Amino acid sequence: MIIRKGQAEIERIAKAGALVAETIAHVGERLEPGLTTLELDRIADAFIRSHGGVPTSQGYKGYPRAICISVDDVVVHGIPDDTVVDDGSIVTIDVGVTLGGAIADSAYTFAVGAIDPESQRLLHTCQDALAAGIAEARLGNRIGDISRAVQTVVEGAGFSVVKSLVGHGVGRHYHEDPHVPNFGEPGRGPRLSEGMTIAIEPMITMGKPDVFLAEDGWTIATSDGSLAAHFEHTVAILPDGPRILTPRVGIAVERESLAALSPRASA
Ligand code: MF3
Ligand code: CO
Repeated sequence: MIIRKGQAEIERIAKAGALVAETIAHVGERLEPGLTTLELDRIADAFIRSHGGVPTSQGYKGYPRAICISVDDVVVHGIPDDTVVDDGSIVTIDVGVTLGGAIADSAYTFAVGAIDPESQRLLHTCQDALAAGIAEARLGNRIGDISRAVQTVVEGAGFSVVKSLVGHGVGRHYHEDPHVPNFGEPGRGPRLSEGMTIAIEPMITMGKPDVFLAEDGWTIATSDGSLAAHFEHTVAILPDGPRILTPRVGIAVERESLAALSPRASA
């Protein structure tokens, strides 16, 4: 069942979304070679709680940390631990915050120091794919229109979409209907209607699309060891277009493809 939200609830999700965006920027500022992902998790946890929020991931289906941190070939759900962040690595910071009873969810893959051009292209492509998906998040369209737009950008750049991981409704619960796949057929799937709030989140790889679940029961990494990127926004479907409820701030700079969407999209 898809839960459509009214104006007041969407504003609450936007407040949670602002804290999500600030948390991502705050962790991004602290990202430097030599830190462990657990240290970064503690920084995120303290930041979220000091702003009145609760990290939604903590305790979700038994998940043990405040946020997910996925390094290099880890696609999603990396559990912060004693992994040291290296110069030249790519690090996804995936944050869910509950604030005032509302939940928002966003992710950003940071480059640590200088990365090679192909890795940079992977990050840019994932952002462009997210932008293309959000641009299709309009009344009258269907989920498949978002899915296909994401897929076209990713595969057009020669990269792969992970098919076993999908975006999702979000707002009242961390994961609501509908699923938002990153591949599909235009004109198919649930119709987009006013007040839907969805997390659109391309998860893409430089090599093959196959992934595996690690023995910890959470970490999902590429089977071929290739690099993976993940960018995510929580978006509301409104009469005047998509509204990003987790607009970037600070060091997590939005790429032009996304900033260039209707003013509404980044308002
Ligand atoms: N933020 C993640 C998502 O987009 C949710 C992670 S669930 C957790 O789906 F328990 F691993 F945190
Ligand atoms: Co999500």
